[in-house]
Amino acid sequence: MRKTLSVPGLLSLALLLAATAVAGDEGDGKKLDGKKLFKERCKTCHGADAPAGEYTPMFLIQEQWTKFFAEDYATTHKGLTVSATDTTRVLDAITPEMLEAIRAFCHEGAADSEHPMTCG
Ligand code: HEC
Repeated sequence: MRKTLSVPGLLSLALLLAATAVAGDEGDGKKLDGKKLFKERCKTCHGADAPAGEYTPMFLIQEQWTKFFAEDYATTHKGLTVSATDTTRVLDAITPEMLEAIRAFCHEGAADSEHPMTCG
C-alpha cells in the first residue's frame, strides 16, 4: 500500500516546524534592537552637525550600507575610541552581534528601502 501524508498529517508537520522555528528564536535570547543600538553606538559620533558627518539609515542606499559594513567600517573606525571619557575602542565596544543588528537596521531603513528611516 502506498503511504501518503494525509492533510491533517501535513498540517501537524507544518505546526511542528512552526513551533520549532519559534522555539529557535527564543533560544538565542534577547533579540538585539538595531535602532536602539544605532542611537547609542553610532549617533554619538554621527548626529546632526557632527564633525564625523551625520548618518542615519536613509543617508545611504542598501548597497552602500552593505559595502560599508563589509569593507569600510573596520578600517575607518579602527583607531577610534568610544568617547573622550571612555577609551574603549569602538571596534571592541560594538560586538559582532550588535554590529549585525545595526547593519540590519541600516539596511531596512536605507534610502532605497521600502521605509527610509532616520533614527528618530
Ligand atoms: C567614536 C566616533 C564614531 C563612532 C562611535 C562611529 N563612527 Fe562612523 N565615523 C567616525 C569617523 C571619525 C568617520 C570618518 C569621517 C571621515 O573620515 O570623514 C566615520 C565614518 C563613517 C561613515 C562614512 C563612511 C566611512 O567609512 O568613512 C559611515 C557610514 C559611518 N561612519 C557609520 C557609522 C556607524 C553605522 C556607526 C555605528 C556602528 C559608527 N559610524 C560609529 C566616527 C565614529
